[in-house]
Amino acid sequence: GLIMSELRVCSVLLLLMLFGQSFGATPSFSVDYQDDCFRKDGEKFRYISGSIHYSRIPRVYWKDRLLKMYMAGLNAIQTYIPWNYHEDFPGQYRFSGDRDLEHFLQLAQDVGLLVILRPGPYICAEWDMGGLPAWLLQKKDIVLRSSDPDYLAAVDKWMGKLLPMMKPYLYQNGGPIISVQVENEYGSYFACDYNYMRHLTRLFRSHLGEEVVLFTTDGAGRSFLKCGSIQDLYATVDFGPGGNVTAAFSAQRYAEPHGPLVNSEFYTGWLDNWGSRHSVVSSAVVAKSLSKMLAMGANVNMYMFIGGTNFGYWNGAGGKYSSQPTSYDYDAPLTEAGDLTEKYFAIREVIKMIPEGPIPPTTPKYAYGPVKMKKLQTLTDALEVLSYSGPVRSIYPQTFIDLDQKFGYVLYRTTLPMNCSSPTPLASPLNGVHDRAYVSVNGVAVGILERNTAIMINVTGKAGSQVDILVENMGRINYGKNINDFKGLVSNMTLGKDLLTGWSMYSLSIDDAVSQGLLGEKEATLRDPPPPAGLSPPAFYGGSFVIPDGIPDLPQDSYVKLPGWKKGQIWINGFNLGRYWPARGPQVTLFVPANILSTAAPNNVTVLELEGAPCSSKQSCTLEFTTTPILNATAPSDNKEHRSNWSYLSET
Ligand SMILES: *[C@@H]1O[C@H](CO)[C@@H](O)[C@H](O)[C@H]1NC(C)=O
Ligand SMILES: *[C@@H]1O[C@H](CO)[C@@H](O)[C@H](O)[C@H]1NC(C)=O
Ligand SMILES: *[C@@H]1O[C@H](CO)[C@@H](O)[C@H](O)[C@H]1NC(C)=O
Ligand SMILES: *[C@@H]1O[C@H](CO)[C@@H](O)[C@H](O)[C@H]1NC(C)=O
Ligand SMILES: *[C@@H]1O[C@H](CO)[C@@H](O)[C@H](O)[C@H]1NC(C)=O
Ligand SMILES: *[C@@H]1O[C@H](CO)[C@@H](O)[C@H](O)[C@H]1NC(C)=O
Ligand SMILES: *[C@@H]1O[C@H](CO)[C@@H](O)[C@H](O)[C@H]1NC(C)=O
Repeated sequence: GLIMSELRVCSVLLLLMLFGQSFGATPSFSVDYQDDCFRKDGEKFRYISGSIHYSRIPRVYWKDRLLKMYMAGLNAIQTYIPWNYHEDFPGQYRFSGDRDLEHFLQLAQDVGLLVILRPGPYICAEWDMGGLPAWLLQKKDIVLRSSDPDYLAAVDKWMGKLLPMMKPYLYQNGGPIISVQVENEYGSYFACDYNYMRHLTRLFRSHLGEEVVLFTTDGAGRSFLKCGSIQDLYATVDFGPGGNVTAAFSAQRYAEPHGPLVNSEFYTGWLDNWGSRHSVVSSAVVAKSLSKMLAMGANVNMYMFIGGTNFGYWNGAGGKYSSQPTSYDYDAPLTEAGDLTEKYFAIREVIKMIPEGPIPPTTPKYAYGPVKMKKLQTLTDALEVLSYSGPVRSIYPQTFIDLDQKFGYVLYRTTLPMNCSSPTPLASPLNGVHDRAYVSVNGVAVGILERNTAIMINVTGKAGSQVDILVENMGRINYGKNINDFKGLVSNMTLGKDLLTGWSMYSLSIDDAVSQGLLGEKEATLRDPPPPAGLSPPAFYGGSFVIPDGIPDLPQDSYVKLPGWKKGQIWINGFNLGRYWPARGPQVTLFVPANILSTAAPNNVTVLELEGAPCSSKQSCTLEFTTTPILNATAPSDNKEHRSNWSYLSET
C-alpha cells in the first residue's frame, strides 16, 4: 500500500512539474532591471495587493476576508508579522489558533493570492511597540533597531525560529510568498545604523536563500531613502492618495534608477487616535491616485485593505504619546467587520480584473439588545484574586517590566506620610505616569493623572491614609525615537515637596481572573456607599445575555456600545474585546465577532470601568448590542497631537 501511494504521489508531482510550470522550470520570482518590472516564472508581472493583518482578525474570518480581496481583483496580499504576538516570553513561541501564521499563508494560496511578507523585526503598524516584545526593555538602555548586541541576539534567535518556518512558503519553493521586506521605514528612525541593516540582510539571506526578493519600504522622500535603503535590498516607497504620483515615484528612482515602481503602502484611509477626529479618505481620491499608478505600470499595495481590530491590549501609540483606539477600521475598503463598502467597489472598478464568481456578502449583524450590568466588586476588593503572588515592595516605584508585567494594569499603593488637611498636590513632576492613573485615598476616588496632560491632582487626608494609584498601560509607542516606552510609574511621585516612598505594587492578572470567572458579586455591606455621580474607584461589572431561539444563523456578529460609561476594558466570555472610551471618542462601538458567542449557555459580559459607571438610583447600568458601528463620534479636541493624515511620517 505504502509503495503504491508513494508512486502515485511521485507521478502527480511529475505531472505538476511537466504541465504546471513552463517546461518543468521551478517557479521563480525576480526583479528585472532591464525592463523595469518584476518577473514571475519568466513573465512580466505586476502586483495589485492589499494589506491584511491576521493578528487583527479572528481566524474563522481569514478566508472570508481573503476571498473578498481576491474578488476585488487583487493578485496579492501583504501582511506584517508582529514579533510580540508570537514570542510573549523569551524562547516561548505561539503559532496556534489566531496566531497560526502558516494556516493563514496556506489559505491565501488556496484562495489564489500571492503574499508579500513583512516579518520586521520592527513593523510600526499602530501595534504595541511596533511589534517588538516589551521584554527587550529588561535591558534598560537597549538601543532598539540598531546593532546593540543584546537586541541583535534576540532578533537572531527569533528570526532563527521564524524564517526557516517561512522558507517552504516562498514562491520558488511552491508557496505564495513572492517577496520579503526587511525592517520597516528604517529611514525614518534616528539610529541610521547601516551595520544593523547589513546584519539583517545577511540573516534573512542565510535563512531564506540567495534567490528571494528582499526589499525595504520608506517614505517617498530622498531623506528617508538615505538611511532606509541599502545594497541587495530592493528599495520601495510608500505614499498616500491625492499627491503627485510622478514626484513620489521619483524618490524611489533616486535609490533604484531601474526596476519596478512599487508603492508598498498606498493609504486607503488613515489611523485614529483617542480624542481626535475619525480619519476618512474619500473613495474618489483613492480611486484617482490608484488609477494613475496602475497606468504607470506601478506595483501597488493598498494599506489597509481591511484594518480589523486591536483586540485586548494590542493598540500602539503615536510618538509624543497619543494612544490609538481599539478599532483599526482605517476607513479601508473592507470595514473592521469585513463589510463591503463603496470604496471597495470604487477600487474594483479601477482594477477592472474581476475574477469569476460571487463576492462573499457582508456578514449579517444582530442586535442582541440592552444588557443589564450589576456591580460585582471594586478592583481593590478583588485584589486577592487579581494578584495571586501578592505585592512587591520597594522604596521607590518600579516599572511594569521590573514587575514582569507586560500589558494591562498595575496597582501602586502607599500611604500619606503626613496630614494633608488642606488640598496638597500629588504629582509626577517628571511626567512619569505611563499612561493613565486612577487615584483614590482610603477607597474614595480623588482624581486622574494622565501622561503629558495631567501630572498633578490635589489630595486631602490624614497621615496613614491608603493611597491607591491604578496605572493603565494604554499601548506602547510604535513609531519614532521613543519606542523604548516603559510603563507604570516610571519616575517618582511627590506629595507637596516630599518624595512618596514605601510602595506596594500589585501586578494584576485581570484577564485570567475574568476568564476563570473569579470576579463574583460581593455581598453588599453597610460600608458601601451608593455610587456617586462623579468619579468612583475602578470596579468590575457583570451581566449576561442569551442568544434567542428560533432565529436562524445565530450567533451573528454585533457591536456593543456603553452609553454613559466612561473608560475601561470589556470582555465577553473571557475574550478581551479591547478598551472603550466613549467619553473621549471617536470610537463608540466595539466589534463583537460571532465566534466568541455561545448559543449553549448565557454569554457573560465583564466590564472594568475605571472612572465611574452610569448607574444611579434613577438609572441602571446597561450596555447595548447594536448592528451599526459608530467610529466617528465628535470628541472634545483635548488631544494636542491631532494627526489626521499621513504627514506624520516626516515627524522625526
Ligand atoms: C508632478 O511632479 C512632476 C515631477 O516632479 C512634475 O514634472 C509635474 O509637473 C508635477 N505635476 C503636477 C500636476 O504638479
Ligand atoms: C496628624 O494629625 C493628628 C491630629 O489630627 C495628630 O495626632 C498626628 O500626630 C498628625 N500626624 C502627623 C504625621 O503629622
Ligand atoms: C490645588 O489646590 C490649590 C490650592 O487650593 C489650587 O490653587 C489649585 O488650583 C489646585 N489644583 C488642582 C489641579 O486642582
Ligand atoms: C526616585 O528618587 C530616588 C532618590 O532621589 C532615586 O534614587 C530613584 O532612582 C528615583 N526613582 C525613579 C523611578 O525615578
Ligand atoms: C457564563 O457563566 C456561567 C456561570 O458561571 C456559566 O455557567 C456559563 O457556561 C458561562 N457562559 C459561557 C458561554 O461560557
Ligand atoms: C459618522 O458617520 C456616519 C455614517 O457614515 C454619518 O452619517 C455621520 O454624519 C458621521 N458623523 C460625524 C460626526 O461625522
Ligand atoms: C495634513 O496635516 C498637515 C498638518 O497637520 C496639514 O498641513 C496638511 O494640509 C494635511 N494634508 C492633507 C492632505 O490633509
